[in-house]
Amino acid sequence: MFIHWGLYSLAARHEWVKNRECLTDEEYKKYFDHFCPDLYDPKDWARRAKEAGMKYVVITSKHHEGFCLWDSLFTEYKVTNTPWGTDLLKPFVNAFRDEGLRVGFYYSLLDWHHPEYPVDSRHPQRDNHEFRKNDEQRDVLKYAAYMRNQVEELFTQYGEISSIWFDFSFPGKDGKGRDDWESQKLLDLVRELQPDILVNNRLDLPGTSDFETPEQFQPHEQPKDENGNPVAWEGCQTFSGSWGYHRDENTWKSVEQLLGMLIDGVSKNGNLLLNVGPTARGTFDQRVCDRLEGIGQWMIKNERSIYGCGAAPVGWLPPNECRYTWNSKTKRLYLHFLAWPFKYVSLSGLKDKVIYAQILHDASEVCFYKTEENGNGNFIPSPDDLVLELPILKPDISIPVIELFIGN
Ligand code: GLC
Repeated sequence: MFIHWGLYSLAARHEWVKNRECLTDEEYKKYFDHFCPDLYDPKDWARRAKEAGMKYVVITSKHHEGFCLWDSLFTEYKVTNTPWGTDLLKPFVNAFRDEGLRVGFYYSLLDWHHPEYPVDSRHPQRDNHEFRKNDEQRDVLKYAAYMRNQVEELFTQYGEISSIWFDFSFPGKDGKGRDDWESQKLLDLVRELQPDILVNNRLDLPGTSDFETPEQFQPHEQPKDENGNPVAWEGCQTFSGSWGYHRDENTWKSVEQLLGMLIDGVSKNGNLLLNVGPTARGTFDQRVCDRLEGIGQWMIKNERSIYGCGAAPVGWLPPNECRYTWNSKTKRLYLHFLAWPFKYVSLSGLKDKVIYAQILHDASEVCFYKTEENGNGNFIPSPDDLVLELPILKPDISIPVIELFIGN
């Protein structure tokens, strides 16, 4: 579970609202002055995440607006100075750990509030010439040092942090990249403080990250490095078209669509980081809860096709509208149906490889079609294919899965 939470949650119209509406610090201040998530209950969040099948969480310790969810010594722009008044991260980290989830932090490289952060093409004051003039007095290297100080706080006060999500670099004209962030120093510090951590790929330091982060799209195959070798990746996705809480955004994906994205990711060796934007009261919106519950219902019966699974062996190509996932330890192949076919499904190259097949959620046998016995003369499968006989009606589950036991 990804969590985007900050002052923008009050505006409730996208976490980039300060940028999109070119708001000044003065104009944005009302959100700071009214930040008071009185219904904040991280135990409830953690329980919901766990019940949806999530294994880890990543929260925005600081997003582009610059506001910090913890009591940082290096800024006054932090939760402890809002009406709420206390650190949000400690109870968060504890609640999620208690539910058995690992904890990661998102930390924004961009900062639209820090006084030493020079204006660039993404800054809310990019068109404000007066404001820009003061760039001469802004020193990005002081800002880079500030980031290291904060990262040190985050990585020494909250126990083991399993991943860090730096966001993001946009080198080139009017942009910022590794020289501005002093990315290498930042990375060295992270690895020194948390040797087992996984670091994402947005520091503008090619070849140093642990995973790629395709955002808001499903890659058509597993991403590769410059040498063509497949790399670890995690797709990050929203329920609707915003990361921060957006009251009036209505493109909410269905449970089935979200499950399809999860399955598609696993079938390409990827993870899914699915984002929740909690409200400024500290709650999950009902639209979020409904979807998390739907995903959880499916996971109870089908998690075997997800956990510990990855891409199927090369050459095993799934039928149309289907995805395979493969557990190499148990030697079980999972066939997911994004659309339900009529009566037969042919599995290319699997003839004589499968010793038993069942629908996963109710363990009901799926029979093999044998031309001699079941054939009507019109349907003659190709000799290398295994053909399964399916019920005419789609089983009563959003995405049906067939579990195939592969023999030696
Ligand atoms: C982006 C956006 C951002 C969001 C992030 C999540 O780069 O700037 O608002 O936090 O992606 O992947």
